[in-house]
Amino acid sequence: MFGTIGILTGGGDAPGLNAVIRAVVKTATCEYGMRVIGIEDGFEGLLGATKTRSLTSGDVRGLLPRGGTILGTRNRGQFVRRTKDGETMDVEAVYKEAISNMKIVGIDALVVLGGEGTLTIAAEFHKRGIPVCGVPKTIDNDLACTELTFGFVTALDIATEALDRLHTTAESHDRVMILEVMGRHAGWIALHSGIAGGADVILIPEIPFSLEAVAEKIRARDLSGSNFSIIVVAEGALEIGHELVYQDKGDGHRAPRLGGIGQHLQQDLEKITGRETRCVVLGHLQRGGRPNAFDRMLATNYGSCAVRALANGESGVMVALQAGDVVTVPLTEAIKNIKTVPPNGQLVRTARDTGISFGAPDEASYHKRQ
Ligand code: F6P
Repeated sequence: MFGTIGILTGGGDAPGLNAVIRAVVKTATCEYGMRVIGIEDGFEGLLGATKTRSLTSGDVRGLLPRGGTILGTRNRGQFVRRTKDGETMDVEAVYKEAISNMKIVGIDALVVLGGEGTLTIAAEFHKRGIPVCGVPKTIDNDLACTELTFGFVTALDIATEALDRLHTTAESHDRVMILEVMGRHAGWIALHSGIAGGADVILIPEIPFSLEAVAEKIRARDLSGSNFSIIVVAEGALEIGHELVYQDKGDGHRAPRLGGIGQHLQQDLEKITGRETRCVVLGHLQRGGRPNAFDRMLATNYGSCAVRALANGESGVMVALQAGDVVTVPLTEAIKNIKTVPPNGQLVRTARDTGISFGAPDEASYHKRQ
């Protein structure tokens, strides 16, 4: 068994990162007598002069409720093949440098907290002989092979509270209120919060919507005497015949950033329904701040199980929640495809059965009995 685990956090932050770090340090040091070295700013901390620091039980005291990550985080950075000034950068040299620095610092294995992008890099370290265990992090819940990523349920709480708050102001002003939530190309946050927060319309990437179908739902509510409507729209939702709305399309250095569909919807809906409409973009409030109790528990279980997996000789795996238990799955499976909402799945059906519209052009056929 090796003596020292390196731990890093990559990609966007998510509530629960510090709780995982705490569990990894406590399990590794107290149960296995290993050392833990924290790597700062994701994999970038393994390059150049390196940014690492030893983590002891004392260093992780009080971390359970703390949002963000004490190690800092970066997006994929230099580990992704890219072209600069017409020249393709040699990514192999970057891995070599990182692995050689790991040896100098004394790191034998890695626990990597990340989403699909970060775990893709983790898999590359495994391919190059480094023992690696991934921990599924993202508020988007879009990682395959696991029922839940940590951070998602906290984001859901925040989005649901926002919907509760929008209800009272919408009702007071007879308005249509739109809440734009995150989620990249998956509609999990919108779907779950929309059901929990009693939205009238949920728009998700997996079910392209028609503006007319959304307007129809608002008119139907007006006719039934409900003079306000609540719409939750995922940032990756797609209006039929249009393109995805980006805040920034990105380039070789910057990842594309979705966002802005809510504003478009607000303008277009106001025009065709004549109803006063407002849009709120929830943005990074979904990621910042303390994890809820469930995410603290899940993050702790993931962190401990990741150390146990490495101690048992597993590598190239990710800890995952399946049927209530934390298991390990091959990293290659976890990063193959993102996990999206099944458009004909149980939750979508439940939403429709309880009167929620997804704005599909044939939406009325799902609501015959209402
Ligand atoms: O993947 C998490 C996430 O919050 C997405 O939901 C969102 O599209 C993206 O990150 C935002 O990224 P950034 O923090 O770079 O604006």
